Amino acid sequence: MAAETAVVPPEYKKGLEGVIAGVSSICTVGRTGDSLHYRGYDVEELVDVATFEDVACMLVCGEKPTEWRSRDFLRHVVEGRTLPQALREVLDRIPATSHPMDVLRTGVSFMGHLEAEDAYEPEHQAARLLGIAPSIINYWHHASQGKKPPRFDEYPHTDIGGYFLFGLFGRMPSEFERSLMNVSLILYAEHGFNASTFAARVCTSTNADMYGAVTSAIATLKGNLHGGANEAAMEMVLPFRNADDAEQQILGMLARKDKVMGFGHRVYKIQDPRSNIIKRFAAAMATEREDGSLFPIFERVEQVLRREKKLFPNADYYHAYVYHAMGIPIPLFTPIFVFSRTAGWCAHILEQRADNRIIRPSEAYVGPAPRKWAE
Ligand code: COA
Repeated sequence: MAAETAVVPPEYKKGLEGVIAGVSSICTVGRTGDSLHYRGYDVEELVDVATFEDVACMLVCGEKPTEWRSRDFLRHVVEGRTLPQALREVLDRIPATSHPMDVLRTGVSFMGHLEAEDAYEPEHQAARLLGIAPSIINYWHHASQGKKPPRFDEYPHTDIGGYFLFGLFGRMPSEFERSLMNVSLILYAEHGFNASTFAARVCTSTNADMYGAVTSAIATLKGNLHGGANEAAMEMVLPFRNADDAEQQILGMLARKDKVMGFGHRVYKIQDPRSNIIKRFAAAMATEREDGSLFPIFERVEQVLRREKKLFPNADYYHAYVYHAMGIPIPLFTPIFVFSRTAGWCAHILEQRADNRIIRPSEAYVGPAPRKWAE
């Protein structure tokens, strides 16, 4: 088959690696090879001093919230938790075999039918999306197994992480669990022009609405090269019998050139700062729960990847451990990422809207030269 031109221009970068696809004031990823800042604030500081909800408000609104704005944002998060009856009926029809990420995608998409685009200020719409996502998951998780869905209005606090655990476990989460979820949600909140955020920006650039943009972002996050890696990492590690077995299995994977889930990153070149932070919690949990088997396996896999490939764990790897240790079912790992990244997505949606031009790149054509259909 004659090609129009087989020459691919040198400026083409597969996977858009290193391509600057927009201007943003929201986040810097790996500016020094291993750091992460949200609007100038270092995540290392944020995890010690901030609530996830204030970080989300800061990302969406552009500035650290005043007390009034923080309360206003939280009020919309909490009000957003209520599931409309029509949405419950839709969720009731989703098969129990579905993946929870697909449930979230449908749930958020359906909310677009129920709430007019201009029914809320954009920052309140973002807050409501942050509020409803854990409700969607907890409702469907219980209802699809024939169990009674939780009483959402009985959780007395405003934190999204604790609210999710309360709905999931039907008990009040401990202070440790709540602070772990707070840190986890802060770490996952924003990450520049990653795949799901870029999907949201592309969608927004056509003047589509926020529900549509967040829906496309959820669909994009699900893949195991992106958010789905936390689930894939756990599925990978669980069958390893012990640390030595893990080492052999990983060496086999590397020999076969298989990807090891939870490792590597497009942007960070030294390390992923989120990994060190969440690993501290993982180590604390391993000690507290006297988990003599699983944590050493996780650590051995990390050692082997560093030694053999100079690869470091990304945020997803030790997140898999802490979520599993808390008793969270594996298919709910990536939805937790959504509870958090919705903040970053909404910040990018608003930024794209503020200075929009439709995102429409070009391709290098390598297909057939012009030819006749009717010979
Ligand atoms: N396991 C094994 N090898 C890996 C690897 C991993 N997790 N990540 C990267 N590599 C290797 C690749 O095989 C490739 O080696 P080669 O040059 O010898 O072919 C090289 O490192 C570059 O990898 P590549 O996939 O081209 O990098 P990328 O920038 O396109 O992809 C990721 C980045 C994150 C998608 C990739 O590291 C990956 O697939 N990781 C596993 C999934 C994951 O954890 N995703 C969550 C990201 S936060």
